[in-house]
Amino acid sequence: MVASAVASSSMSHLRFLHSYTFPRFESGQVQLKVAATAKVVMYQMIPPSSSAAPLIPTTVDVNLGDRSYPVYIGTGLLDHPHLLQRHIKGKGVLVVTNTKVAPLYLDKVIHALIVGNPNVSVESIILPDGEQYKNMDTLMKVYDKAIESHLDRHCTFVALGGGVMGDICGYAAASFPHGVNFIQIPTTVMAQADSSVGGKTGVNHRLGKNLIGTIYQPQSVLIDTDTLNTLPEREFASGFAEIIKCGLVADAEFFAWQERNMDALMARYPDALAYAIKRSCEIKAEIVCQDEMESGLRAILNLGHTFGHAIETSCGYGEWLHGEAVAVGTLIAVDMSYRLGWIDNSVVERANKIIKQAKLPTRPPANMTAEMFKSAMAVRMKLKIEMHGCIKGDYDRKALDETLHAFCKSLNQVFSFVLSVCNGRSFVVQ
Ligand SMILES: NC(=O)c1ccc[n+]([C@@H]2O[C@H](COP(=O)([O-])OP(=O)(O)OC[C@H]3O[C@@H](n4cnc5c(N)ncnc54)[C@H](O)[C@@H]3O)[C@@H](O)[C@H]2O)c1
Ligand SMILES: [Zn+2]
Repeated sequence: MVASAVASSSMSHLRFLHSYTFPRFESGQVQLKVAATAKVVMYQMIPPSSSAAPLIPTTVDVNLGDRSYPVYIGTGLLDHPHLLQRHIKGKGVLVVTNTKVAPLYLDKVIHALIVGNPNVSVESIILPDGEQYKNMDTLMKVYDKAIESHLDRHCTFVALGGGVMGDICGYAAASFPHGVNFIQIPTTVMAQADSSVGGKTGVNHRLGKNLIGTIYQPQSVLIDTDTLNTLPEREFASGFAEIIKCGLVADAEFFAWQERNMDALMARYPDALAYAIKRSCEIKAEIVCQDEMESGLRAILNLGHTFGHAIETSCGYGEWLHGEAVAVGTLIAVDMSYRLGWIDNSVVERANKIIKQAKLPTRPPANMTAEMFKSAMAVRMKLKIEMHGCIKGDYDRKALDETLHAFCKSLNQVFSFVLSVCNGRSFVVQ
């Protein structure tokens, strides 16, 4: 599974993604040749002129029969009310957002929902912000608001925010009272490139990430890339873990494009960002359309997540951002794949390099032991599912142990380290 596309995979079910035509930035986008070797030509993008880029939403279709939906991607889309209004069902709308996003975009979204649309009545709920609030208590606040507002099964829930808002609101929409209309307005790279597409919804349990949830598709996803302008650096970088993952598992050309353009992406060049988000949505849509319920192929999108979820659960939700944990998890998965002989060392090097370029961590938290990884992973038994999703045969416990010990201190070392700190001494006990 791991890095199959980059390692010129023999997995035929992924090959369809490789035929994608390499993007040509012709209008408003100059390709500048900056380095060339005998074999490799690198391009670096420079920003488009401000007069470029017409305001036309790109649409990625998620084709799931009668549950198909469009993903609109573009700048300034929140200024186009019809894109939202055409997907509203019933008269009642509940916008679910949080304390950080509400001051930035709630008024704009409410305006887009009601302008020229007097029959619609919009309620909103502003939840506490953070992964640590992605739980049943917060979910209950959404139900409370919906019931107090006399919303019925003909209403629409709108998720406004990052992946946490999308997951909570989506789960509420799936279950109130037996499923209502649902629209995603994602505002982080993570949510725009990944979590808003594909229908996974849910909340965390103290024993494991996303342990409670369901798959429930939205009616539409509206990605206004302008909302990324307010995203802090750390949260911005975090989303690239999923974009890199997409390239690694499903599209070698996209991965190579990211390697050439990561600096432009980190500098938030709009065309580069729009392309990375669009391509990630396309890849996810193609995979979800073939395996919506994750009985096989879709599991490739979980690359790095078994290890990443273990970091998030062990550290306490919110300490490490999801993308940071996935970045390290991806490198652990890549390392293990190398030890198993599935990929060659060049993939390990490329994965490490691009994750550093994306300003993401490459090592787990200093106090996290191999035993902590295993205990958090055992709760879910997801390792087997992840491996079996795409690989024939059982996973190799020796390779897992070797990998975890390469990334972590052993329990003894951590204990010794803690002891020395507690004693106010800095000598190495062991
Ligand atoms: N459902 C899925 O398929 C799926 C896929 C990937 C991740 N996820 C989930 O998504 C969550 C992570 O998502 P995330 O990284 O977006 O985290 P997040 O939702 O916590 O957002 C990160 C931070 O950015 C803030 N924020 C959001 N938009 C902003 C904006 N435009 N300007 C300024 N601040 C803004 C948020 O309030 C938050 O403080 C995790 O819970 C993860 O499990 C789900
Ligand atoms: Zn993820």
